[in-house]
Order: sequence, then structure tokens, then C-alpha cells
Amino acid sequence: MQTTQMRAVNRDAANCLQVRETELPAPPAGQVRVRVEAAGVSYGDLLFQRGVVPGGPKTPFIPGCDLVGVVDAVGSGVTDLEPGQRVCALVVSGGYADGMNLPAERVVPVPDGMSAVDAAAVSLNYFIAHQMLHRVGKVTSGSRILVHGASGGVGLAFLQLAEHIGGVTVFGTASAANLDLLRRHGAIAIDYRADDFANVIRDNGGKVDVAYDPIGGTHFIRSYSVLRRGGRLVAYGQNDALRNGKPSLRIGAIGFLAGIAAPKLIPDGRTTGFYNALALEKTQPHAYREDLTEVLSLAAANKIAVRELITVPLRDAEEALQRVEAGVAGKIVLDCTA
Ligand SMILES: NC(=O)c1ccc[n+]([C@@H]2O[C@H](COP(=O)([O-])OP(=O)(O)OC[C@H]3O[C@@H](n4cnc5c(N)ncnc54)[C@H](OP(=O)(O)O)[C@@H]3O)[C@@H](O)[C@H]2O)c1
Repeated sequence: MQTTQMRAVNRDAANCLQVRETELPAPPAGQVRVRVEAAGVSYGDLLFQRGVVPGGPKTPFIPGCDLVGVVDAVGSGVTDLEPGQRVCALVVSGGYADGMNLPAERVVPVPDGMSAVDAAAVSLNYFIAHQMLHRVGKVTSGSRILVHGASGGVGLAFLQLAEHIGGVTVFGTASAANLDLLRRHGAIAIDYRADDFANVIRDNGGKVDVAYDPIGGTHFIRSYSVLRRGGRLVAYGQNDALRNGKPSLRIGAIGFLAGIAAPKLIPDGRTTGFYNALALEKTQPHAYREDLTEVLSLAAANKIAVRELITVPLRDAEEALQRVEAGVAGKIVLDCTA
């Protein structure tokens, strides 16, 4: 099968993706070949492309962590999938292409009637938010949580999934323009530029059980400070390590050392950790398929939905990454059939 791939060839902000046409071989044993229809564009793709994430892919590589497509061929030994079936997969890289071979256990069926674009829009953000709420934070009715960047793709996923749990008190930080959005999803909305979230939490019943922080650097320390005894800081991004297009390894190191490692030395009942989907998969191998299936089902039942969906042709992937960096208010999905 002939494929078009968008490969990241350098760490720059412009002219970083190159089109490559190549032949995709028949799937080897245990794999399926997927004709990719849609792939999500995420902040994580941008961080990988800039080389900010320790252990991230080396150039050249194909960005894209979430993809949806139709099984085109199955390798020997694959018995539970057949050509024509629409499937979804989360990967470390490779989504910005119109075809890919994948291990059969990596793909999850998309519910009947759900479009490829809709499935791609929810898969990564809602999957990671679901895992961090249920498997890491053990959030249940009655929990109090802090969600930073609550107007963003992952942030809004936290808010909607917490609404679905019911009875969770959510403090959400965002810009002034997005505070109403947070309130519509039941959160106590905090303007991160004008207000100190620690004061707002203190004035509304005290500390929280779990703080979710994608900001990084010294921000992790501030989030840790609002945890009750026994509470948990779940760090899952280091947005501050990429400011004005420039990666800062210093801010990243401060986040890991002062924000996550140092508090572990103080036995005060509070814990810290950096959520990583792949690390969780090593300890809970069944979680990947269960959680991806669950968020796709919730979306198919209209229980969760992205704020705004923006569809961009595959060949405009570089422009899509630039829009993510500029702070687009919505989820960008590449149309890999265009
Ligand atoms: N660990 C993993 O496995 C994993 C996987 C995928 C993604 N991630 C991470 O998830 C993070 C979020 O991704 P995303 O796609 O949701 O990003 P996004 O849609 O760009 O949202 C980020 C939001 O953060 C807000 N923000 C910026 N600075 C802030 C601050 N100082 N305090 C509070 N909010 C602030 C912005 O809100 P306003 O517009 O309202 O200012 C923005 O909407 C990224 O760091 C990404 O790397 C981690």
C-alpha cells in the first residue's frame, strides 16, 4: 500500500515536517495494516518535535500519538480483527500518516456509527485524563481535585469525566476568557493570572486530595502545597519548559528535581509522581484496552465531547502544530484521507 507520511526532520518551529511517500508492506505476523483516516494533534507532539521530552523520539520520526482508521489487511495469527473494521490506537509516534502497521493488541474497535474524526478527537486526551482520575488519583464522589489548564484539551477532559463521576469538587485554573466554560462544567474557576489558586482553595474548604499539573517547573511545588495529608500531586506535562518556542531544559530539570523528587524525601504523607501512559501500561497491561474502550463508549453515548473540533488536511500538519503552540482553543484532528 502506498502511504503519505509527515516526518519531523528537525527541532525548528518552521520547515520541521517533510512529506514522504513510501510503500507500506503487508502486515507481519500478529500485526494489522491500518488505513489511517484521522490522527489527533497534541501538545505532546509539539514537545516531542522540539526535543523537550527526555527519551522522546529522535529525528527523523513521524509525530502523532493517536490515530483512527480502517483495518486494511491482517497478518497471520490475527483472529479477532478483519479488514473493513474501524479501529483506534494510541502510539508514541507515527499517527501523521495515511497508513501504518500496528500490533493487533494495540488497536481497539471504534463503536459502530462513530466517525473517525470524532474518535480521534477524544481518544488521547480523554484516555489520559481517565487514567489519571481513576487509576492514579483514585478519584471518587466526595474527592476534591485541582485541575490546571482546565480549559485545554486534557483539562476539559478532566472536568467532563469528573462530572460523569459526580460529587467531585473541582478547582480549575484558566485564563479569564475561559472561566465561564469551566463553570459550565461544574468547576470552581480560578483566573491563574489574577488570583492565587492556593488562596481560593483555602477559602473554599481547605486542601485538595489530588492536584493535576501540566505546567511544570516551580509550578509543581505550588500545586504540592495545596495537598492535604495523604494527597497526591499528579504531574503530567511541563508546558513551562517550552516558552516562546524555545525549550528550557533548566525549567524541566527544576520540575523533576524540586517538584517531584525532593518532596519524596519528606515523609509527610503526601506523594508526587509523573504520569506516563506507557509506564502505567507496564504495571497494568490490561488498562490500555479497558480505558480506551471506555472513553470511546462514553463519547459514542454523548457523555463526553471536545470543546471545538478543527479538521486539517494531513499535509497541513506543520501548520496544525504551530496552531497548537499558539494556544488554539479546540482539538485539531488531521484528516488523513484528504
Ligand atoms: N503524560 C502524558 O502521558 C501526556 C500525554 C498527552 C499530553 N500530555 C500533556 O498534557 C498537557 C496539556 O495538553 P493539552 O493538549 O490539554 O494542552 P492545551 O489544550 O494547549 O491546554 C493547555 C492549557 O493550559 C492553560 N495554561 C497555560 N498556562 C497556564 C498556567 N500557568 N496555569 C494554568 N493554566 C495554564 C491554557 O489555558 P488558557 O487558554 O485558558 O490560558 C491552555 O488552554 C501538555 O503538557 C501535554 O504535554 C501528557
